[in-house]
Amino acid sequence: MRKVLIRTAVICATAAAAVAVTAFVVRRRRRINGRWARAGAVLKELEEQCATPVEKVKEVADAMTKEMHAGLESEDGSMLKMLISFVDRLPTGDERGLFYALDLGGTNFRVLRVQLGGKEGRVVNQQCEEVSIPQDLMVGGSDELFDFIASALANFVASEDEDFHLPNGKQRELGFTFSFPVKQTSIASGTLIKWTKGFNVNGTVGKDVVGELTRALQRQGIDMQVTALVNDTVGTLAGGIYDDNDVVAAIILGTGTNAAYVERADAIKKWQGPLPNSGEMVINMEWGNFRSSYLPTTDYDHALDAESLNPGQQIYEKLISGMYLGEIVRRVLLRLAVEAALFGDNVPPQLEVPFVLQTPVMSAMHHDTSADLKVVGAKMQDFLGISNSSFKARKLVVQVCDIVAKRGARLAAAGIIGILKKLGCDRPNMKRTVIAMDGGLYEHYTIFRESLLATLKEVLGEEASASVLVIMANDGSGIGASLLAASHSQYLED
Ligand code: GLC
Repeated sequence: MRKVLIRTAVICATAAAAVAVTAFVVRRRRRINGRWARAGAVLKELEEQCATPVEKVKEVADAMTKEMHAGLESEDGSMLKMLISFVDRLPTGDERGLFYALDLGGTNFRVLRVQLGGKEGRVVNQQCEEVSIPQDLMVGGSDELFDFIASALANFVASEDEDFHLPNGKQRELGFTFSFPVKQTSIASGTLIKWTKGFNVNGTVGKDVVGELTRALQRQGIDMQVTALVNDTVGTLAGGIYDDNDVVAAIILGTGTNAAYVERADAIKKWQGPLPNSGEMVINMEWGNFRSSYLPTTDYDHALDAESLNPGQQIYEKLISGMYLGEIVRRVLLRLAVEAALFGDNVPPQLEVPFVLQTPVMSAMHHDTSADLKVVGAKMQDFLGISNSSFKARKLVVQVCDIVAKRGARLAAAGIIGILKKLGCDRPNMKRTVIAMDGGLYEHYTIFRESLLATLKEVLGEEASASVLVIMANDGSGIGASLLAASHSQYLED
């Protein structure tokens, strides 16, 4: 009798344990299913809010054209500054001599020397050096930043070899590519309107940037004259036209984004000076500051903007450019980690660090073609401290990258279409129209580039898009700045 009781008790206990395990498994499965359902909902919402169907692309393009007109009309007519560059003569190919260029606009700056040989010789020789800017100098004092740059330039000049010739008695001349919004007062002077792209150097806004650089060059004992101050878009346009006469505009898609194009001088209503003989003027649009109610934005974008160094500004840039795409993805992944436990029960601490996920890493994950998405796994381990991510989670990461990158690419295409419309080059049977492009985002992020080009075709149509060419103007802005230094040389009458 006792044996029977014990056996019954054992059976009951085993059954109870089995029921408990089953209940646990069911609960766990439900919890997991619940998590995936939540993750799916977050992704769906992102997809919907970032959607850029053709109609939307057209609306954004039209808004861009409209703002271009408004910005040309009056000084504060638009959030598009439409800055007058004072470049009314673009390179002809006749430029000769030794010129320098200094390219400041991102986390690295470059110094160049270029030996120009006229129509026959073209760019006879060039040398370039790239120096990365310590993070603290990007948000420090003006003298510290400009002294750092001038000292790198001093070392560069000191290392010159005999392939580069500066005729006796002539001063070295420099084209200064300064890739921030500047209100030019002449081809070689201008005051800084504001910093962008994570820079915020004290005491520089409203100052003449050429003055700042010239004083630093003097402190370093370098005898050099800045003969052209240009935005990187303007430099790229100059470099682009030097190679191809049909270039009408230049676009930068890198850390930041911007565009410049050749405008009819009489269309610049706010222009108060004498009309240039050429009848043309290059305009630096500063399109990164474009905004419109048509732009598809999300709570991630609003939070990114609010927490940035320049809230309320550069809204278009914050949706498109290399500085921000990875950061948007990080914000989405963080929400997925918090709300859907995408990477396990605990939120990975690294994922909470702003800007820890940079766009090149996002791009590497997005382009992962391995069957088990091992690049995604490795990058998440290396940059976000997330180990053992599930395949399903990695697939989701790729989807997030896809949504964010394609929205950026399609919006960038909308901007280009806006310019083409302004120039009347968006219709079939147009003459060959070339856009000079520069910037690491466009160059290295293949899916972004392909999506941008496909959008141009989709919106302009086969026929019109056949005459529009986007060419990579690698390093165009450096060469362009030295060409403009040459065409504005103090020795031109010699
Ligand atoms: C930022 C700057 C702009 C520059 C662009 C690309 O938008 O404000 O001047 O051209 O980045 O570097």
